[in-house]
This record gives sequence, C-alpha cells and structure tokens, in this order.
Amino acid sequence: MKILVTGGAGFIGSNVADAYLQAGHEVVIVDNLVTGNRRNINPKAIFYEMDICDESLSEVFAKEKPDMVNHHSAQISVPLSIENPLLDVINNVYGWVNVLQNCVRTGVKKVIYISSGGAIYGEAEEYPTSEKYNPKPLSIYAINKSVGEDYLYFYRHQYGLNYTVLRYANVYGPRQISQGEAGVVSLFTEKLLKGEIPTVYRYDNEPDGMIRDYVYVGDVVQANLLALERGEGEVFNIGTSIPTTTKDLYYAIAKQLGINREPYYGPARKGDLHRSLLSCEKAKKVLGWKPETGLSEGISQVIKYFKELQ
Ligand SMILES: NC(=O)c1ccc[n+]([C@@H]2O[C@H](COP(=O)([O-])OP(=O)(O)OC[C@H]3O[C@@H](n4cnc5c(N)ncnc54)[C@H](O)[C@@H]3O)[C@@H](O)[C@H]2O)c1
Repeated sequence: MKILVTGGAGFIGSNVADAYLQAGHEVVIVDNLVTGNRRNINPKAIFYEMDICDESLSEVFAKEKPDMVNHHSAQISVPLSIENPLLDVINNVYGWVNVLQNCVRTGVKKVIYISSGGAIYGEAEEYPTSEKYNPKPLSIYAINKSVGEDYLYFYRHQYGLNYTVLRYANVYGPRQISQGEAGVVSLFTEKLLKGEIPTVYRYDNEPDGMIRDYVYVGDVVQANLLALERGEGEVFNIGTSIPTTTKDLYYAIAKQLGINREPYYGPARKGDLHRSLLSCEKAKKVLGWKPETGLSEGISQVIKYFKELQ
C-alpha cells in the first residue's frame, strides 16, 4: 500500500513512517520542516518539503496517488495557539481541509487523523475520560483538533471517505523536541543532561504539578499500524490510563540520571489543563491495542537518544 504521511519529519510522524516502511508499505512524506527535522526522514521514503496549505499539494496527490493518508502534521503548541489563533486555524483547519479535498479528488481510500485526547476533553468531569465524553476544548489548539474530527464525519457522509481517529494522550520518546507542553520528557532530560535544573509548572492548589497520561511513542506507532486495517469510522483514545504528576516525572528522570536535586517551580502557563487521563478500553477491544512500555523503560530510551545525539 502507498501511504502519504503528513508531518513525517516530525517526532511521531517519522516513527510511524519508519514502521510503515518496515511493514513493507511505500511511504510519501509531506512536511514543511517547521518543527520537523531532515535527520528524522527515512531515506526509503519519498519526501516533499511542502506546506500542507500549499496549492501544489494537489500535484503531490496527483503524482503519488496514495491509497491512504496518515495526518500527523499540525501546529502543536497550546500556548502559541492562544497567542496566535489564526496561525493554528491556518495549519490545523485550512491545511487539513486542503488535505481532505485532495483525498477526495484522488480517491484516497482511508485517512488516519491524529487528534489530541490530552487536549480536546478540557477539564473533563469523567476521569479517566472515555471517547463518549463530549469534548469541552479549552484552547484554540484543542478546538481546532476537535473541529478536524468533525470534518471527517462530513467527508465520510458526503464522499464516502473512510477514516480512523486516534486521540493521543501525552506522547513521549526519541525524536521529540523539547518545546510545547507535550515535550516535557525531552525538555527535562535535555536540561538535566546539560547540568541544568528544569521548572515544574503548577497551579496553587496542585503543588506536584499537572497530572498527565504519558504514552510511549513505540506504542503509539503500533496503534497507527493497527488503524491501517481496523477501526473504520471510529475514534480511539491512545494512552495508558496511568496518572503521573509533573513532579513525579521529574524525579523519575532525575533518578535514572543519578541526580538528587529539587526541581524549580513556576506558575502554570496559558492553556495548561490541571489533569488529563484517558480511558483506552475501546482501543483494546476494537483495535486489539494496548500500551506495552512502562514510563521507566520509555525514559531510558529518551536518555539513550539524547546521549547518542551529544
Ligand atoms: N506529542 C504529543 O504528545 C501529541 C499529543 C496529542 C496529539 N499530537 C498530535 O500528533 C501530531 C504529531 O505531533 P508531534 O508531537 O510529532 O509534533 P512535531 O512538531 O514533531 O510534528 C509535526 C510535524 O508537522 C510538520 N508541520 C507542521 N505544520 C505543517 C504544515 N503546515 N505543513 C507541513 N508540515 C507541517 C512539522 O514540521 C513537524 O514535522 C500532531 O498532529 C499533534 O497535534 C501529539
């Protein structure tokens, strides 16, 4: 099968592209390298350095005629989406609709859309949160991710375009850049390796920092492999359902590096949710997916990655 991966030079998209190639598929990558990196691009993939908003995206679709599209490209920063809403709308709505229009024009059979379970549910009353919970987004990024899902429903109804949505928790692992809320594992690891002490952001009533569901990229890749064949017209949370505070995360990383110092503390940033935790029973039942990598093992892979880069 020929699969076009948008954002395939980025952290998660490049790991997914590698796995698709490994599984014997042909892979085409479209990425404007705004946060992605050339070194992540598998040499066996066909690469177009291009913005998904570009009109010339139609030439890529016409030439490559992908069977499936896996959509990982996005503006990924929650604080930036609040500072500059239009930037987020352009990347995460306009660009996405441009991808969808091209899918319809060239007869793409299915799209896998990457949404954010860590963002779209907002401060959910259901905890851990299942897919049945009605999204209550509290950032521009979260609104646009949720709207992206709505487009899929329309395109399926109107044009018969098949889809699967994967709503990720906080993904971490090798190749993640240390920016944005989701990059905290990379950020802490990089800083500690440089001998610096990172800051744990927190709300006044939560001295240990925010609660998050950290899922390892290798497990997320497995979900993307399974979604090639399963989960038609369905939405799945992809996480661990294990709550971790930012402070616990800091100590888990510091311990593996043999560092015995308190972190700094600072106030939560715009758009930071107090807690997010996903229920992933549906992915277990329908996709046959479950997370296999514990936080400690995942952290050791991130440390190894940064040490190799040094
Ligand atoms: N990292 C997480 O914890 C997490 C959680 C939930 C959802 N997601 C989603 O997963 C996807 C991948 O995130 P990531 O963490 O790998 O981030 P990333 O920044 O590493 O990957 C995004 C990629 O998209 C590319 N890109 C951005 N805008 C583009 C555009 N307009 N045209 C073409 N390419 C563009 C970037 O250069 C980058 O390579 C995103 O859709 C993100 O919203 C990530």
